[in-house]
Amino acid sequence: DFDTNVEDSLEKKRVKPVDEQAEQVKQVAEPNYPKFSGPTNDRMRAVQMAMKHAWSGYKQFAWGHDHLRPIAKSFTEWMNCGLTIIDSLDTLLIMGMDEEFAEAKTWVETKLNFDQDRYVSLFETTIRVVGGLLSAFHLTGDRLFLQKAEDIGSRLTGAFDSPSPIPFSDVNMKTRKGKSPSWGSDSSLSEVSSIQLEFRDLARATNNDSYEKAAFRISEHIHNIGCNAHEGLCDMFLSTVDGKFKSDTAITFGARADSYYEYLLKQWLQTGKKIDWLLEDYKKSMTSMIKLLLRQSEPNKLTFVGELLNGRNFSPKMDHLVCFLPGTLALGVQNGLPPEHLEIAKNLSKTCREMYSTLTGLAPEIVHFNMIPGTKEPDVIIKPLDAHCLLRPEAFEAWFYLHAVTGDTIYQEWGWEAFQAIEKFAKVQYGYSSVNNVKKIPVQYKDMMESFFLAESLKYLYLLFADEPLIKLNEYVFNTEGHPLPIYK
Ligand SMILES: *[C@@H]1O[C@H](CO)[C@@H](O)[C@H](O)[C@H]1NC(C)=O
Ligand SMILES: *[C@@H]1O[C@H](CO)[C@@H](O)[C@H](O)[C@H]1NC(C)=O
Repeated sequence: DFDTNVEDSLEKKRVKPVDEQAEQVKQVAEPNYPKFSGPTNDRMRAVQMAMKHAWSGYKQFAWGHDHLRPIAKSFTEWMNCGLTIIDSLDTLLIMGMDEEFAEAKTWVETKLNFDQDRYVSLFETTIRVVGGLLSAFHLTGDRLFLQKAEDIGSRLTGAFDSPSPIPFSDVNMKTRKGKSPSWGSDSSLSEVSSIQLEFRDLARATNNDSYEKAAFRISEHIHNIGCNAHEGLCDMFLSTVDGKFKSDTAITFGARADSYYEYLLKQWLQTGKKIDWLLEDYKKSMTSMIKLLLRQSEPNKLTFVGELLNGRNFSPKMDHLVCFLPGTLALGVQNGLPPEHLEIAKNLSKTCREMYSTLTGLAPEIVHFNMIPGTKEPDVIIKPLDAHCLLRPEAFEAWFYLHAVTGDTIYQEWGWEAFQAIEKFAKVQYGYSSVNNVKKIPVQYKDMMESFFLAESLKYLYLLFADEPLIKLNEYVFNTEGHPLPIYK
């Protein structure tokens, strides 16, 4: 346990005067909100400056809209609910940006409106909007955020009215009707299995267990039908009609599967390590990941996680998204999982670092690995269609956990180098932009600042550079959008 709460133990030894005792009773009655006093070193200050720069561009040209387009000085709409504001609330708090948080809160109070005849993604809206509002509630105690979380959460429950335990991928915020995407009747594994932390927290914070039950039923269903064809690794699509897996899809830890594995561990942690089958399924899937997907590249033996195409043929392809895995593995080891998982996590996080060894120092969306011994090819191959960079958070997230668990400062160095590449090649006059090709200078901008850049990328970098743990990993569990939610004792 790396959480040495020195101040607490000193407090306990001191005998308190009577009025201070009364004060303590009050503190017990109300939750103890973490205090964030702003950056305490130069790297944290630099990340806070980046957040201020991103925020001011957004405020100037996209205020109240979902995403900033910093080059066009415009915006894009997706859920039409000020997504960048909601996704940024807890980052603003954690970085001690109180003024910006106050203006964000005023917007939530006066402008945020979910009563729109518009279909949104159950998954994306849950992790970003429900998750963002809930973490703002937990970090401040302000019930405004809980009310808004319940407003959107209850609208989203329409997605659960499908013919099977597998919910529809999309839901109308006004009519609460669910529907499948235009391309078919399937939902993605990661999407239906990565909404449980949020709905459970919503249930417990509002004292209405229907939210938890509705979402957890999906996890129970997947556990019951099992992923036996691949020893605990699951296919990536489930039918909303009969609730079954589509067979022979890709077996991957990347897009459409990733956070299923993450939420097995994190749900187990969130519920106080009491639901054994979540842990068993997690352990089983990690054992199979090691056996079926974990390989080393040539010539430098970089450890990576590949995919099984059609459930059979190994492909040495790894999404940047897979870089969540070393972080999750390290968090598991922190909570008693086998030490071997930490060795794998270290190796994988180093591979994620290698993904940033490009001309710009930014990582591409997808890499392939060279597996043929004796060739002159490099270990990491970036194909032209995979070379873009959305300033994703997963490597920073991994280095944050690895640093927290091992104390090794190398992870801070890697984070600092990547942050400098962002400053050099993704910073524009009015914010930050995704880039088209990490192997090309001068860079071409995609003209998009994703909300996860503020919600996760900058947050995890700031937390990585912190002198003291700002969010304790035995008190909070981060959802898959980087929003901390409390662990229930
Ligand atoms: C609990 O939430 C559900 C879904 O929003 C709602 O239908 C129900 O009325 C709520 N129950 C209570 C007691 O508020
Ligand atoms: C980690 O990488 C090193 C160097 O390639 C290798 O020797 C070791 O076996 C790897 N460990 C695991 C658990 O993959």
